[in-house]
Amino acid sequence: MIYPITVYGDPVLRKITTDIDPNYEGLAKLVEDMFETMHNAEGVGLAAPQIGLPIRVFVVDLSALGEDEPLLKDFRKAFINPEIIEKEGEKVLMEEGCLSIPGLREDVLRFDTIRLKYTDTNWEEHDEIFSGFPARVIQHEYDHLEGVMFVDYCSPLKKRILKGKLTDITKGQVSTNYRIKVPR
Ligand code: NI
Repeated sequence: MIYPITVYGDPVLRKITTDIDPNYEGLAKLVEDMFETMHNAEGVGLAAPQIGLPIRVFVVDLSALGEDEPLLKDFRKAFINPEIIEKEGEKVLMEEGCLSIPGLREDVLRFDTIRLKYTDTNWEEHDEIFSGFPARVIQHEYDHLEGVMFVDYCSPLKKRILKGKLTDITKGQVSTNYRIKVPR
């Protein structure tokens, strides 16, 4: 099932999300629906608040990049109750976009390497190091669970420049090739 994607201005995108427990009903289906929703919108990551759920779940699929980056060929993961426990290495500047902020891309400075604890959909625990592009995408999605969006990192001047576009997005005055849920 493809969900409409919440956009900038929706209060759910500003909530601090909560952990789920193994009794959470329909997790496997929810995760598959999130992958489907993300693929339909041609994204590489999607966090639960982007489909209106304030819970600590996000999905990342970088397998489409496997042709250029063989290491990413099988990178299709769901992250449940993730926790970044270390950030290390240099900070790297890279342009980012977000399905909840259609049409807008800006440079964001992020750590090159992170250590992440999370569980998968079988409730198995993982403690892994991610570097490079996967670390970038994970930090972006993780931010969604903390109510943070990438434009928050822009300078005050840049924010003023973007204000009109963000207001348009909040009103649904933006063109997308996927369905969005416009805030009331
Ligand atoms: Ni995003």
